Amino acid sequence: MNVILVNGSPHAHGCTYVALEEVANTLNAEGIATQIFQLGTKPLTGCTACKSCAKIGHCIFPDSVNEFLDLAQAADGFVFGSPVHYAAAGGAITSFMDRIFYADSHAGRNTFYLKPAAAIVSARRAGTTAAFDQLNKYFTIAQMPVISSRYWNMVHGVTPEDVKKDLEGLQIMRILARNMAWFLKCKEAGIKAGVQFPEKEEGIHTNFIHD
Ligand SMILES: Cc1cc2nc3c(=O)[nH]c(=O)nc-3n(C[C@H](O)[C@H](O)[C@H](O)COP(=O)(O)O)c2cc1C
Repeated sequence: MNVILVNGSPHAHGCTYVALEEVANTLNAEGIATQIFQLGTKPLTGCTACKSCAKIGHCIFPDSVNEFLDLAQAADGFVFGSPVHYAAAGGAITSFMDRIFYADSHAGRNTFYLKPAAAIVSARRAGTTAAFDQLNKYFTIAQMPVISSRYWNMVHGVTPEDVKKDLEGLQIMRILARNMAWFLKCKEAGIKAGVQFPEKEEGIHTNFIHD
């Protein structure tokens, strides 16, 4: 089993990374393989709503979105980490999330269906719960079980050294990882025991415009 952890910070080894590393190390101790996927500092466009993904099966822009979607197919779980920028998730990871989830669903790839996910956020001081709420919404529109911890998944600091001193934040990361490992093992055991995936329904799309 393997989990991909996305670092949505421009700092490859900054505060968000310290939190993700704590999750990854704990998952590894539970026998789950991990991979950290860095968004880095390359500009990442938002979704242009061109809907090409519905025709070509992937996003029209050849960047980390398609690279991630290809990797994600074989992954069993996901952790998406973001620094808090103006009380929201960072701009790059917001574009990334919009595009991976939109392209995946419009291309009918079904990459995320019933795979567990968690969001983690890193901030100097505030805006954490707003950013956390924002990221969790991608999971609940994609039928992903959301893994929780003993508090909302956040760490505090301006430098990685600060985050290493946030003992409660790091504990939240370890508990989150163990909860995800437990869920993954239960899912695997359930599938082996013959528990079927839920019955599917055709999607119904309504809007609020009436004659
Ligand atoms: C553009 C920008 C906006 C920020 N806005 C906030 C904010 O709203 N609240 C906060 O506590 N920290 C804010 N910060 C600080 C970062 O969230 C914080 O330093 C974070 O831990 C950095 O994580 P990283 O090292 O992984 O990038 C902001 C930083 C930047 C660059």
